[in-house]
This record gives sequence, C-alpha cells and structure tokens, in this order.
Amino acid sequence: MVEDGTKILSNVIASQISIHTKFGGVVPEVASRAHLEAVSPVIRQAMSDAGADWKDIAAVAVSYGPGLAGSLLVGVSAAKAVAFSAGLPLVGINHMEGHIYANWLSGEIPDFPLICLTVSGGHTDLMLMTGHGKYKMLGSTRDDAVGEAFDKVARLLDLGYPGGPAIDREAQKGKPIIDLPQAVLSEPYDFSFSGVKTHIYRMCEKDLPASVPDICASFQCSVVDTLVKKTVMAARQYKAKTIILSGGVAANSALRETIVNESPVRVVMPPRGLCTDNAAMVASAGYFRFKAGNVSSMDLDVMPNLKLCC
Ligand code: KG4
Ligand code: ZN
Repeated sequence: MVEDGTKILSNVIASQISIHTKFGGVVPEVASRAHLEAVSPVIRQAMSDAGADWKDIAAVAVSYGPGLAGSLLVGVSAAKAVAFSAGLPLVGINHMEGHIYANWLSGEIPDFPLICLTVSGGHTDLMLMTGHGKYKMLGSTRDDAVGEAFDKVARLLDLGYPGGPAIDREAQKGKPIIDLPQAVLSEPYDFSFSGVKTHIYRMCEKDLPASVPDICASFQCSVVDTLVKKTVMAARQYKAKTIILSGGVAANSALRETIVNESPVRVVMPPRGLCTDNAAMVASAGYFRFKAGNVSSMDLDVMPNLKLCC
C-alpha cells in the first residue's frame, strides 16, 4: 500500500524463489498455483501492516502485463474482486512501468526529462521519459535481456538460480582479467548480449581460463560498461536532468556504483529491495495513473506481451 505515490505503508512479498530454485527457473504452471495460494493472505497482510481500512483506499492498482498469463490472471482477478466489493476504481498497470516507479519510492523525486535504463529478466530498454506516463523508446536488446544473460551465465558456471545475485556476489571476489567481446550495433542505443554469453559458453566447454570469481567479474564488468556508456550517451544527447534505473538487474552493485561515477547528471535508483518484483512499485505507478484520470474498466484483461511504448 502506497500513499501519494511516494510513501510505502506496506509492501508484502510472497517469494517463490525457493520453489523455482528446485526447477532451475520459473515453471509457469507452478508459478500460477503459487500465486493463487499466496494472493489472499498477502492482501490481508498488506492491509494489516498498513493499519488500513478499505475506506482509506482510493484505488486498486494491478499489473496486467507483460508476464506469464496464468500468474497475471490470478492478480487481475483478485484486484477486480477487491475493487468491486469495496466499490473502488481499478487501475491497470504495465509491469515495466511499475519497475520504473520504484524510483519514486527511493526518497528522491526524479526530474523530467529523464533517461530510464530498464534491466530485468525479460527487458533491456533505454527510454526517454518526458513526463508521467510519457515514454519514448530509444533502444532495446536484439537478443537476450541482460537479466537473462546473467541467469544463463550463472547456470553455465553452476551458480544456481537466480543467477544475477550469485554473479554479483562472486564478482566481488574476483578481477575483470578476461577481455570479452562487446557488440557493435548500427543503432547506437540497441543492446546485444548473446555474443558475450556464447563466448563464456565456449570457454566453459574447455578448461576454465580463470577462476569463477574472475569470470564473473569480467562478464559483469563488460555488461555494465555497455549499459552505462549507452545510458550516459543518451543522457547527454537528450539533455536529461536525471538518470533512473529500473528492473531486477538495477540491484547489481557494479551497475549502481559505475552509473553514479560516470553520470553527468543526478542518478536516482530504487533501493535494492525494490528493484526486483514487488507490489509497492505497482501501487506507485497506479497513483500517478489514477491522478492523471486513467481508470480501467472491469473488463480489464491480462496482456502477456504488453508493451510500454512505441
Ligand atoms: O525485474 P525482475 O525482478 O523480474 C522480471 O524479469 O520482471 O528481474 C529479475 C532478474 C533476474 O534475471 C535476476 O538474475 C536479476 O534480475 N538480478 C540481478 C541482481 N538481482 C537480480 N542481476 C544482476 N545483479 C543482481 N544483484
Ligand atoms: Zn519484474
């Protein structure tokens, strides 16, 4: 539960990581069943943690895409039930917009125009944001999302799931001693991470040329370097007042440190715990959409491939 889009009153997370770890990744059917079991207790807990009553609530926000259809259906159905029975407006939110609005929960308010780097398990997007809900896509990945590359490299190195935090931890014990390829693309703000991933795959077929911490540090350093260079270049070109980070990979310690060191403008980022999926970020995005007069109908349907902008 969030007040004024910026203050968290409660943020309950029912993590499925221990369930998915057993399978080495997310199995859609397992995920939606786990959502179904968790949704009612989580709503009750969120109300009780905030000490709130239904009459204190202005609107119910819910993520309706992108994502796994089964899990989205559980959330959207529960939100409709709550909104209908409490007589509240329903506000459908793009999950990626939720990640972006985690920045408004950081204690700092980003200034527009801003450059947003979204880095998650399914997305690597560089966007110009000129106001609330106003996005222009500057570039995105042509193949793997950056979080996906972290997860795949971690699997190659037997570091388990989710791979991002494991690589982050290992990299802190190593040095970036291996030169890895960086993609050169015709579109300056597009990304490609399959080359570096394949390079590491080939290395793992033979005797490892370095220790696991050194390989992790080299991979992370190469990826972070690309992400930061392009973000800084966009901030300069579009005269941005702020750079913001969003998505699970925004929790990466090297990315957080390097962007602050290299940025010509103020950097705002969500606290680590709000980078990965959570409800407060969706509530914050919901606040700003609701304030702008955007309310969804009770026909709101899930959109597994929902896009944020053109
Ligand atoms: O945004 P998110 O929680 O889920 C979606 O994809 O929507 O992002 C999850 C991704 C995973 O690929 C995970 O490995 C990565 O974020 N991640 C990290 C770190 N923490 C999570 N990647 C690098 N460093 C981290 N510290
Ligand atoms: Zn997410």
